[in-house]
Amino acid sequence: MEVSRYRPGEDDEPVLQGYDVPLMPDWAVLDGLNYIKDQLDGSLSYRWSCRMGVCGSCGMTVNGEPRLTCGTFLTEYGDGPVRIEPLKGFPVIRDLVVDIDDFLAKLSSVRPWLVREGEDLPLTTEYAQTPEQLEAYRQYSMCINCMLCYSACPVYVLEPDFLGPAAIALAQRYNLDSRDMDDRFDVLNLEDAVWGCTFVGECTRACPKHVDPAEAIQRYKLTAALRSVLPWSRR
Ligand code: FES
Repeated sequence: MEVSRYRPGEDDEPVLQGYDVPLMPDWAVLDGLNYIKDQLDGSLSYRWSCRMGVCGSCGMTVNGEPRLTCGTFLTEYGDGPVRIEPLKGFPVIRDLVVDIDDFLAKLSSVRPWLVREGEDLPLTTEYAQTPEQLEAYRQYSMCINCMLCYSACPVYVLEPDFLGPAAIALAQRYNLDSRDMDDRFDVLNLEDAVWGCTFVGECTRACPKHVDPAEAIQRYKLTAALRSVLPWSRR
């Protein structure tokens, strides 16, 4: 494995360091990194937690592509070397660890909760949904915030102010929920939000959970265009 090593403030630039790792048939890339950390070089820094494709913390660039390292087998790359770098588009804190503050701020900016207006129903009231109403937003609720879609997005890499795929898909997760009464027009109908997307579609291709942010964005463009001629139109 070739692993990017970098300590901002101490190193001029990242360097690739090579490690010999056993090629075990059931080892994910993350297992290879853990082998390096445990057996060869305890100073290597990277994030992971669940090891089962749920927490979203182990995203890195594997041979040039954004991947979940716990869900990517070393054997996909033959005898190697397998090159591991931090996710592109994010400032590096150390080695393979990137700064996620901007990403989290973008998620928060879309009001990721059910917005109810002018209601005086008791807190115990149920908001039942049909299976069809659930299906309308279900795929967007599968996002694990792994940031692979941002790293794959050519717009975000060039324009860091772009709201980005996961945040827009998250907004649609609530916009399309029958219990929600917002449409998040003020944060989505912007040059740096849905209108900044050039519909390359790499976000959808990169998503390990089969969420389709590209579709979410194009769909909201239609919503926003309709709203400009029919102001009462919200979905
Ligand atoms: Fe949790 Fe990979 S370690 S998604």
